Amino acid sequence: MPERDAYEVRAMFDRIAPRYDLLNTLLSGGLDGRWRRQAAVATHLQPGQSALDVACGSGKLTAELARLAGAGRVVGVDFSAGMLEKARRGYPALEFVEGDALALPFGDGEFDASTAAFGLRNLADPGRGLAEMARVSRRMVVLEFVRPPRSVFGSVYRFHLRQVLPRVGGALSGAPAAYRYLSDTVDAYRSGEELAELALASGWKGVEFKALTGGAVGLLAGHP
Ligand SMILES: C[S@@+](CC[C@H](N)C(=O)[O-])C[C@H]1O[C@@H](n2cnc3c(N)ncnc32)[C@H](O)[C@@H]1O
Repeated sequence: MPERDAYEVRAMFDRIAPRYDLLNTLLSGGLDGRWRRQAAVATHLQPGQSALDVACGSGKLTAELARLAGAGRVVGVDFSAGMLEKARRGYPALEFVEGDALALPFGDGEFDASTAAFGLRNLADPGRGLAEMARVSRRMVVLEFVRPPRSVFGSVYRFHLRQVLPRVGGALSGAPAAYRYLSDTVDAYRSGEELAELALASGWKGVEFKALTGGAVGLLAGHP
């Protein structure tokens, strides 16, 4: 049983693509840029190396990877034509490919590193997505929302996700269902431990999880 309906997810991202970046920055209080930079650094990517950014959306993490890789090859892959159009317009010098994270159109070990930022939760089969990242690269990093911790911060964060985010996101994006989806899935977010377990079950080795910003999001890293 898929966790998400891929067609609905793709149509939803096509709809919100024009306002996606603005809303991300607004709703994360400007922290999303820092989180993506931390994800890029966690790949240990060196100048001249190659990287694949899975579910790249508007290409912000792809651009961070390109900064680290210098002359190396960096590719962003996503299945939403709307998001890819935005990525290509924002970063015309970068390579973006239309493709499915569950069947990546790349060879085994083709990249030094692969990343996925806020993409895993949206996949119909997250375990298969993690396995695909391990197939095509030698180091994998996932940046993802995690279930709000049981703490004062966790309660405030849950309130933000449940009450603020659907209202502000819905009003500004013109696609209220998309932002209701984001808040409705809060309780389905995995904990850091559960993410690590899923990665291990998907063939990752040397799995590490690091909570960022009081546990609002986390970085999962490993190798095949
Ligand atoms: C929340 S956005 C994240 C975008 C970007 N990584 C970021 O950091 O802002 C999730 C992205 O996952 C993409 N996506 C979801 N399922 C996918 C799949 N099976 N294959 C490729 N892309 C997928 C969506 O189209 C969307 O662009």
